[in-house]
Amino acid sequence: MTRQRVRLALVGAGRMGGIHALNIGSLAQETDFFECVAVVEPDSSLREAAVLAVSGGEAPRSFADVQSLIDSGIADAAIVATPTSTHESVSLSLLGAGFRVLLEKPLTATLESDRRFAETIDEHFQGRVMIGLQRRFDPPLLYARNLVSEGRIGRVFKISSSLEDSGPLPAGYVSGGILADMAIHNVDEVLWWSGRFPYAVSAVGNNLLSHFNSPVEEDFDDATLQLFFEERLSAVIQVSRNHRAGYRVETSLWGSEGEIHVGRFQPDPTQVDVECFSISGGSVSRSFTLAPSPEDSPEFLGRFGTAYRNELESFLFCCRDGIDFSVDQRDALRAMQILDAAQSCIRGGSDSESLT
Ligand SMILES: NC(=O)c1ccc[n+]([C@@H]2O[C@H](COP(=O)([O-])OP(=O)(O)OC[C@H]3O[C@@H](n4cnc5c(N)ncnc54)[C@H](O)[C@@H]3O)[C@@H](O)[C@H]2O)c1
Repeated sequence: MTRQRVRLALVGAGRMGGIHALNIGSLAQETDFFECVAVVEPDSSLREAAVLAVSGGEAPRSFADVQSLIDSGIADAAIVATPTSTHESVSLSLLGAGFRVLLEKPLTATLESDRRFAETIDEHFQGRVMIGLQRRFDPPLLYARNLVSEGRIGRVFKISSSLEDSGPLPAGYVSGGILADMAIHNVDEVLWWSGRFPYAVSAVGNNLLSHFNSPVEEDFDDATLQLFFEERLSAVIQVSRNHRAGYRVETSLWGSEGEIHVGRFQPDPTQVDVECFSISGGSVSRSFTLAPSPEDSPEFLGRFGTAYRNELESFLFCCRDGIDFSVDQRDALRAMQILDAAQSCIRGGSDSESLT
């Protein structure tokens, strides 16, 4: 059976859309199972830059709005990297027209609208939405996950996941708060490791450093969450805008037979060591050199550029083969439920918030 090439459109070509555009361009040079047929972006200079970046062969068409793309009938899959406030309306237009969608996290900006949107997808568009939670496609984390599956550290009882920017957000950035903006990745990662949902969360937010010279309004520059699970599992998440030495992403897992560390801090984010110390199965380590990112790109690209590319490849393979995505609206909703409870905990000054 000859498989159809995926006809892909990029919708939204700002900061994140620009990263997808680069990955589309490089993937298109190497494979022929998809073609990028269109870029949709209201800002003409961003649109032109993305058209150049995605071009692997024939230049894609460009549109200023999603309806024009739909009317053209030239695409059947889309990456949606528009501002969070537009995720629901843009995605529903595309889904209603038969598209499969890779939607950037989060679903929407609130738990209530996330619930509504996820239910609509469940009911009418099940299997047609993938969510951009790229850690699940990150080679060092996948390697560590394999070590856990092999039983090298026994039963995991504690997980720690940290994400720290080296400074305040860039001018003009609109943050939905440090938890929604940063911790969604860590929460999703912890749910992915554990395969379980916590019964309670506690959280604290602080303003320690960047808040006082940031060009952007944000609730906190530092926050810590603790997730409590049944059957003796605990997870701690730490996010901040204050790691002046450089972008820091670290995960540690403690098990009954040893421990694993992913990403001891190094100033170059493309260098990631995974170290596994095991009392039963020997200790192993592996150093990853991730894809370098272009100059002037956001600092998270050095650490996660390869993951974004793998995520895109996974989306396109699933579209081509008509199979379900490995991360969908329900994963994004679960993460948002935890973040919403964490936010309530901070606002109300309670010790913890129940999630049951
Ligand atoms: N996965 C990640 O690690 C990650 C990182 C950064 C941002 N994001 C997510 O990506 C999304 C975009 O964030 P950003 O930082 O790129 O924002 P941005 O403002 O830089 O880019 C959004 C772009 O969408 C365009 N746009 C607005 N409405 C549109 C519409 N109806 N159709 C087409 N284009 C439209 C804007 O003109 C803009 O260029 C957000 O939801 C954000 O949460 C994810």
